[in-house]
Amino acid sequence: MNYYIGADLGTSALKLLLVDTHGNIINTVSKSYDVSFPHPGWSEQNPEDWWTALVEGVNELTKNTDKALIRGIGVGGQMHGLVVLDENDKVIRPAILWNDGRTFKETDYLNNVIGKEKLASLTGNIAFAGFTVPKIMWVRDNEPENFAKISKIMLPKDYINYRLTGVHSIDYSDASGMLLLDVENKKWSSEMLEICGVSEAQLPALYESYDKTGDILPEIAKELGLGEITVVAGAGDNAAAAIGTGTVIDGKCNISLGTSGTFFVSNRDYAALSNNAIHSFCHANGDYHIMGCILSAASCNKWLCEDILKTDDYAGEQTDITDDKLGTNDVYFLPYLMGERSPINDTDARGVLIGMRLDTKRSDIVQAVLEGVAFAVRDNFEIAKQAGVNISRSTLCGGGAKSPLWRKIMANVLNIPIDIPSAEEGPGFGGAVLAMIGDGAYESVSQCTEKFVSVKGTVEPDAEIVERYNDRYEKFKQLYPSLKDVFKTIK
Ligand code: XUL
Repeated sequence: MNYYIGADLGTSALKLLLVDTHGNIINTVSKSYDVSFPHPGWSEQNPEDWWTALVEGVNELTKNTDKALIRGIGVGGQMHGLVVLDENDKVIRPAILWNDGRTFKETDYLNNVIGKEKLASLTGNIAFAGFTVPKIMWVRDNEPENFAKISKIMLPKDYINYRLTGVHSIDYSDASGMLLLDVENKKWSSEMLEICGVSEAQLPALYESYDKTGDILPEIAKELGLGEITVVAGAGDNAAAAIGTGTVIDGKCNISLGTSGTFFVSNRDYAALSNNAIHSFCHANGDYHIMGCILSAASCNKWLCEDILKTDDYAGEQTDITDDKLGTNDVYFLPYLMGERSPINDTDARGVLIGMRLDTKRSDIVQAVLEGVAFAVRDNFEIAKQAGVNISRSTLCGGGAKSPLWRKIMANVLNIPIDIPSAEEGPGFGGAVLAMIGDGAYESVSQCTEKFVSVKGTVEPDAEIVERYNDRYEKFKQLYPSLKDVFKTIK
């Protein structure tokens, strides 16, 4: 029996799994780190903190395991974040993360001067503030001394892979979210490189997610207490989660309620939706996918419980929200705590609670937050549906999927059965699967997912609750357009 390490380089923590060749999770470790918000709407992290978490976490994860049996590591990571290295491969400035909204000017230039049609024809996507190209342009225009030093541009998990192997690598799924990749043809777009003023030599080499990029460096193996192991290119966290939840068959859907909220549909062939409000990216199994991303999902509930209500008893806050209350709440929440990505693409958007009266209870507000996130995911669903994408059921993963109430709300707001996968740790499990393939233990992603991934329960929608939520959603839909201009004036 061999073992593989799957890592999920998240925004709030690095989550590590030790998985055996049969897909059993043997051990898990989580190491948290901080996000800094140096200015309103900015979001940064220090790549060294990710590395420290990895070194400490791997040592802890593997301490009771025969190290000689650990064969590989695969990392699924937070997407889009800009990591820049100088000619000595030293980090030049803190990483600018996926939910950072500073690049509204650059995004506006890309979408309206270069033009959405041109961007879509070059990359399959339009610009969103969280994507990497606007961040590169921001550094170019605001920190020219840092820009001049850039020797390599990479994404967060690629920095970890570089520290493990000394190889500058990136996989197609994560590269898709940079706005530098011609997604359909899986190659860097020379025109996009020119637009943001960088050269192909400054980019890492492209790989499929399950490709081995190298062996772990001997000195790093020693530091981690490991033998010689395979390192694979890994994937963006959503593509890794899709593998971990078995979302690899044409048309299959996974929803993730993590710091961000995403809905992800696997496609055998390349497909971009007409208005590009939803992303069209490469998948980690070698295929393609579409994805809508809301910037704040489980983070809204964490913010409400921990920062506002000063409690970490998330389940306790939900006990009063019984089935009869679903679809009857008059309090609404717009979950735009970090602005919003898809579909509205608005860095000025803000969180809003509306509809309170003197008899509004604490639990009504908790419920509104869970429902507001579900409605924002539905906004993405509606766009996909209008474009002819048929989503008849979905798996649900991420921290938010642990709440039975939130599962029920999702099933009824979206009016689809919600399947709960056997392994809730989507991205980490996906990372371990990729490592198994890169190491030669299995031939393909689907061979692993067929063997390892099952559904442990399903939440069915209830027709009456669905109807009540349809009515509520119609009201929710009116809130953002009514407030859009006001948001622009709140700085
Ligand atoms: C996806 C996205 C987020 C991050 C979260 O486009 O930006 O889901 O990957 O880690």
